[in-house]
Amino acid sequence: ACLKRTRAFGKLILFGEHFVVYKAPALVGAVAAYTDCDVEFTGAPGIEVVDLRPAVPGYKVEKAAEGEEAVKIVLSHLGVDTEKRGAKITFGGSLTAVSGIGASAAQVVSLARALSAALPRTLSEEEVNAAGYEGEKGYHGTPSGVDNTAATYGGVLRFQRTDGAPLFTMKKLAGPIRIVYASTGITASTTKVVGDVKAKKEADEAWFGSLLARYTALAAEGEAALDAGDMAALGRLLDENHALCQELTVSCKELDDLVVAARGAGAVGAKMSGTGRGGLMLALTPTAESQAAVAKALEKLAPQVWMTTFA
Ligand code: PMV
Repeated sequence: ACLKRTRAFGKLILFGEHFVVYKAPALVGAVAAYTDCDVEFTGAPGIEVVDLRPAVPGYKVEKAAEGEEAVKIVLSHLGVDTEKRGAKITFGGSLTAVSGIGASAAQVVSLARALSAALPRTLSEEEVNAAGYEGEKGYHGTPSGVDNTAATYGGVLRFQRTDGAPLFTMKKLAGPIRIVYASTGITASTTKVVGDVKAKKEADEAWFGSLLARYTALAAEGEAALDAGDMAALGRLLDENHALCQELTVSCKELDDLVVAARGAGAVGAKMSGTGRGGLMLALTPTAESQAAVAKALEKLAPQVWMTTFA
């Protein structure tokens, strides 16, 4: 199924995983790959989910229960009582449901769009995003909202949590940003890693406070480099963000190895992206040639490698 109106994108975090939870700004880019969804109401009560998304071995088994919960939350949030009215829900599209890409957010946002078409009920983008945020809670208790926002709006976004509704703005890019991203093959639990960071913060507020301050300064520089289209500066700052993630203890050997390999193959910067301790890394490759060379180098080490361009 290719249902353009139900498309919701995967995302990569250029700057700010974990720090975004504590209200520092993040910069996030939607990848080209997307999830789409079709909803058909049936006569019999209950939910049937057909998942046609490109698979990662092991992923579906592990995430099945959480995914079911997320689907139920979105249905009830949009007023569908599947005890009265059954639904057959089909997920498809090009986005592999790999750890770190925001696949859960893409899934619930595409479901909200599909429900809007099937009910039918006109939903604003804000309402789609809000339904996605509710669904995300089914996956991990206290999401920052960065994933569902990127899934809904696409593009490159500056995102920041506040005590109220999050703030986000669409970035206008000076030029295309070519990226290679690769999976470690390890599925990390966002809930667990976010919980570990919280415990470390509570055990040593001064340590965390200094990391957060360094990150906040770096993110401002990163945004300026992005605005100026300065790939060399952007790359150096991505490297620095990776180093901060290492200090925060959310990286791991597999991520570090991929980051080093990408830099060695010509990336101007590389970092982990997302939860960490597994999941994904990304590399900034200013030219089509360096993008191809870095992808080739990473394919020797990583189970899955993709290319995308933020434009
Ligand atoms: O692993 P992902 O792509 O779901 O990213 C999680 C990002 C965190 O900052 C670690 C958590 C959050 O809710 O923002």
